[in-house]
Amino acid sequence: MSKPTVAVIFGSRSTEHDVSIVTAIASIIRPLELSGKYSVVPVYIDKKGQWFSDPKLKDISLYTSGSIDTFLDKQKPISLRIGVGMEIVLRNGLKQRSIKVDIVFPATHGTHGEDGELMGMLEMANVAYVGCDLPSSVISMDKSLAKIIAQAAGIPTSRFVWFYARDFKTNLELVLEMIKPLKYPLFVKPVHLGSSIAISRVNNESDLINAIEVAAHYDDKVIVEEAVTNLIEVTVPIIGNDDPRPALVEQPMVKGEDFFDFDSKYMHGGKKGKSAKRGAQGYSKLPAPLPKKLYEKSEQTALEVYKAIGCKGIARVDLLIDSKTNKVYFNEVNTLPGSLYAHNFREAGISNVKLVEELVNLALERRTGKQKLTTSFSTSYLKQY
Ligand SMILES: Nc1ncnc2c1ncn2[C@@H]1O[C@H](COP(=O)(O)OP(=O)(O)O)[C@@H](O)[C@H]1O
Ligand SMILES: [Mg+2]
Repeated sequence: MSKPTVAVIFGSRSTEHDVSIVTAIASIIRPLELSGKYSVVPVYIDKKGQWFSDPKLKDISLYTSGSIDTFLDKQKPISLRIGVGMEIVLRNGLKQRSIKVDIVFPATHGTHGEDGELMGMLEMANVAYVGCDLPSSVISMDKSLAKIIAQAAGIPTSRFVWFYARDFKTNLELVLEMIKPLKYPLFVKPVHLGSSIAISRVNNESDLINAIEVAAHYDDKVIVEEAVTNLIEVTVPIIGNDDPRPALVEQPMVKGEDFFDFDSKYMHGGKKGKSAKRGAQGYSKLPAPLPKKLYEKSEQTALEVYKAIGCKGIARVDLLIDSKTNKVYFNEVNTLPGSLYAHNFREAGISNVKLVEELVNLALERRTGKQKLTTSFSTSYLKQY
């Protein structure tokens, strides 16, 4: 029997394009191949949004050397045939060849991928795919929607309000009135972005207005929320469909008033702690040195969020803890954690190879479950015409 074909889709029109290349090649393609169980096909979406597939796209040096553009100039973009499953159609002059895809492994961080767009296409294609589905991806990508769902499920979040950027431009008074009951310091964030882009922490109204202007420049929706004080930040990677389980509660290193920015997350000049390990994103304590009760409460809260939002396969739930009151607040969900947070799963006893195998199996299990649902309903509706 031939091996199932896994197509790993990565890159795309996103500020996290380059991070996606590393996640795809180092944390997904390599372990999938090491398992020896799959035929792995790379599908690279360039920054313009053109799709390519060639075995050479599995080689990280193509990207690190900068020769990717000249390589792609000589390649023909692929097309997809979708319907009862998905096929990649490759053209070479007049010749055409297609590869049937059994499972898609999305590795796209951020916009045009992790945000649900890709999942919608994969649902229409009727193909099994790894990770969060369309609705959970859409909800998780919007910090306000994720908090609203969490709140409705009784999970604590810091107090917040959200509004459209256009409301701020046309009716500043009303927006300020909405924000008034919140206590400073406040965090102002564009709801859809990651990597701390355009996020500010403010202490007074004039800084607040400036911060909203910045956020509104990047996004059509803005969230303003109270800062959690005496902050301990933790993050919990989770794996599973209906019966999810956490890996280790991890504590990223954040100093006092400071908060993560793009460089400290992804660049080697990131903040370091002596006892900390280098994780996928800068430095962290693994497992988080929390008292047992608080550790378990973090696991529990993260699992509740995962279930409330309907996450599938894998996601990472970020929490903010007030270390004085021991209250655990939900902050946000990442449906495609950088490098799959493989360092954390490894420490929890799941090797990178096992992790990707399990994710592929969860994708197949979910598709089988979905196929059992009735999608047709016979009626005499058409007969009346
Ligand atoms: N309500 C809050 N209270 C305290 N710190 C916060 C709060 N919201 C965000 N932060 C800090 O800002 C960082 C970035 O905010 P976050 O909502 O996680 O956005 P991003 O998508 O950029 O990761 C967090 O990791 C945390 O350090
Ligand atoms: Mg975050």
